[in-house]
Amino acid sequence: MEVIVASDSDEMANRAADIVQAFLVSTHSPALGLATGASVQPLYRELVRRHREESLSFAAARAFLLDEYVGLDPDHPQLYRNVVRTELGGQVDLRPVHLFSPDVCSAELEEECARYDRMISRARIGLQILGIGRNGHLAFNEPGSAFDSRTRVVRLTATTRADNARFFDTPDEVPRRAVTQGLGTIMGAGHLMVMASGAAKATAVVSVLRGPVTEALPASILRTHPRVTLVLDPRAVNPVVESHEAGMRIPTR
Ligand code: GLP
Repeated sequence: MEVIVASDSDEMANRAADIVQAFLVSTHSPALGLATGASVQPLYRELVRRHREESLSFAAARAFLLDEYVGLDPDHPQLYRNVVRTELGGQVDLRPVHLFSPDVCSAELEEECARYDRMISRARIGLQILGIGRNGHLAFNEPGSAFDSRTRVVRLTATTRADNARFFDTPDEVPRRAVTQGLGTIMGAGHLMVMASGAAKATAVVSVLRGPVTEALPASILRTHPRVTLVLDPRAVNPVVESHEAGMRIPTR
């Protein structure tokens, strides 16, 4: 696992954008996995800047959402499909038909999950962008999710609903269910890039780096993937970097 500790969110965004940019130009038809959340917002802003000022192009890319809320109106600004359109897709030259997400309005939601999972497998995601929950969740795979889980409907924990309430007018508005790529599905991507910032993530991040690999902490599965890059700020990894300078790369294995 490669660990990049950046000095602040600008440097995190830059380092992560370098990885996305290198991936986009490395192949003719890049399949990019997209996450949502505060941790990835600076990255998306930097990618938009590079598109506008440095001609970084998404024209050949296909983008796939990691997860999606169930129960929001199709035009709700917090529907992840709309979030990704607003923060990235709609501001770069990604073709709208190349932004893929599960159809959470489907009357056959279980079948739709299986269809989306097959689509992800066929697409062979080359680079998957990820955040990490305070409780160690990946996408919406909450603690206890099976390591071999596939795309499915899940119930959100109280912790996750409380954490995500900041994006909604009232806590009650946060959906109780979501569709998420499974941990097994996510592990199929060629390269996983995980972004985490802030002291609230330190417990989860340090557990990923040093704790047991266990379904009680879904993100610990990262230790079993051959290519993972963690992009962190010092506060997200505080106990580990105490004696290191920000900006160092810490080999964990
Ligand atoms: C949500 C998303 C996750 C994301 C997590 C972290 O729960 N479904 O995919 O990783 O939030 O979000 P943030 O970066 O806002 O802390």
